[in-house]
Amino acid sequence: MFNLKIIGIDEKKCTKCLECVKECPSGLFIKPPTEVGEKREVIFKDSYNRCIFCGHCIAVCPTDAIIFENAEKAFEFPEIKNIASIIDYNNLMKFLRARRSIRRFKSDPVPKEKINAVLEAMRYAPSARNAQCWEYVVISDPEIIKVIKNAVIKMMALLQKVIKYRKILKLFVPKEMKEFIMDPATKIGLDHFFEEINKGEDPALYNAPLLIIICAPDLGSMTGADAGIALTHGMLAAQALDLGTCWIGYAQEALRRFKKTRELLKIPKKMNVNGVLIMGYPAVKYHRTPPREPLKIRWF
Ligand SMILES: Cc1cc2nc3c(=O)[nH]c(=O)nc-3n(C[C@H](O)[C@H](O)[C@H](O)COP(=O)(O)O)c2cc1C
Repeated sequence: MFNLKIIGIDEKKCTKCLECVKECPSGLFIKPPTEVGEKREVIFKDSYNRCIFCGHCIAVCPTDAIIFENAEKAFEFPEIKNIASIIDYNNLMKFLRARRSIRRFKSDPVPKEKINAVLEAMRYAPSARNAQCWEYVVISDPEIIKVIKNAVIKMMALLQKVIKYRKILKLFVPKEMKEFIMDPATKIGLDHFFEEINKGEDPALYNAPLLIIICAPDLGSMTGADAGIALTHGMLAAQALDLGTCWIGYAQEALRRFKKTRELLKIPKKMNVNGVLIMGYPAVKYHRTPPREPLKIRWF
């Protein structure tokens, strides 16, 4: 259920510029056929509930003539008319290149205002058909973080057991899994994980003071991508607030496997865990950006 509802057009404000007609991805603004030169009204018609509530009509109307219902007003700021003036490419690239996955955190808690500011940035992520179907679980309770850490450890211990029988198992598992279990790096990685655990380290969640889990119902092949973009917004917003983050695929996988842990977090049955982010104040400073793989592009 969407909260945004487009009601129609304020005829007094509408200048018939037709921007809404050109902009609406569902073609719901119509200018009925007119005589040449006649300036007749534009109408909003959604007989088959095809509106995806993207609000592009609200955003594009130069005279604010779209009437809608929502608890929130449209957000206005002068720079929206010249977006490139908000941040130039070089500064943006510095900011993107400066981002690292943070695995060493100070013990200081993340203040609630900063958590809310990060979540607010995630709210503005694009999503397929504007579904915005995400829900978040925010965890700062160390006991609950420990439960998730233990779920990761349990999953890794199971994997370590399975790996022992890899020579037999390889005959039964799918190709990708076969490559994974037969790769010597998998066993070495698991052994290293448990060496760290035995030393009292936390190679699962890196002693982060905060966890953000993003969940969404399975709406098809794009749901995972949507969540990924939302978390990326969050990572970048966190960085602008002096915070560090790391996406923890292992925790995501553990939550996917262990129903009891999902129940503890009150994640509804119909929701999948699409990503887990740890967050906190970094206890590390970087001096340079490492090289990345060159782009692989086919130009036509
Ligand atoms: C989907 C995803 C899952 C990841 N899972 C883990 C993880 O479980 N543990 C971990 O330490 N890092 C994890 N990472 C972080 C990657 O290792 C990291 O992004 C990569 O090495 C590049 O480093 P950078 O983020 O500092 O540029 C994950 C990243 C992504 C995008």
